[in-house]
Amino acid sequence: MSKIIQRKVTPDEAELLVKEIQQTPYIVGYSGQEWRQAENIRVAEDENGHLIGVSLNTDFGQNWTKISVLYVREEFRGQGIGKTLFYAAFEDAIARGRNVYTISANPIVIMMINQLGFSTFSSLLSFPAAHQNQKGIIYGHTLKWLANFYRVKELIRKHYVFQLKEPFIYAIRLTSPG
Ligand SMILES: CC(C)(COP(=O)(O)OP(=O)(O)OC[C@H]1O[C@@H](n2cnc3c(N)ncnc32)[C@H](O)[C@@H]1OP(=O)(O)O)[C@@H](O)C(=O)NCCC(=O)NCCS
Repeated sequence: MSKIIQRKVTPDEAELLVKEIQQTPYIVGYSGQEWRQAENIRVAEDENGHLIGVSLNTDFGQNWTKISVLYVREEFRGQGIGKTLFYAAFEDAIARGRNVYTISANPIVIMMINQLGFSTFSSLLSFPAAHQNQKGIIYGHTLKWLANFYRVKELIRKHYVFQLKEPFIYAIRLTSPG
């Protein structure tokens, strides 16, 4: 049995997340320091309080939230934990009146993105006409996100290690769609 708690991660959990996420193809990831400092985290815990999954929300701009990480430890996958974490992360942003942004190449996450009514597009260079107004804020966020040594290193390493075939999907859900 697992439960979802909003709390920061401990230094040991931060270390574990960095190590395990380095082995997954779909998340570029965050450094240990970023994990230790991050505030808006949902942790799935087992009955002993051990971390078995996590989602991370990052606010940017005036009214945007990125679902930055969704991760469930391998032996606990396929039990509904990822979906509970993703929906909880999404609902947190919507409840605070924020637009939601996320990126994924993981087919399970893309399915959830579609279920939740996000608009999707395949490249930051082909921003949909309906979202041209949001382009500046997303570009600004992406540049800031990229200006980080850990991330650049991981992007390059993962590109060569995993040689990902699946395309990344960019997804936006405005607070008031339509
Ligand atoms: C993506 C991830 C978080 C999913 O977590 P999970 O706990 O295994 O997912 P859930 O059990 O909640 O399943 C969510 C949905 O996917 C479906 N699903 C789960 N595993 C599946 C599989 N192997 N094949 C097909 N469908 C699957 C479930 O049936 C469920 O569908 P539903 O909405 O119809 O009920 C997990 O696989 C993971 O951490 N992967 C590595 C990190 C990663 O890629 N994260 C995403 C980066 S954007």
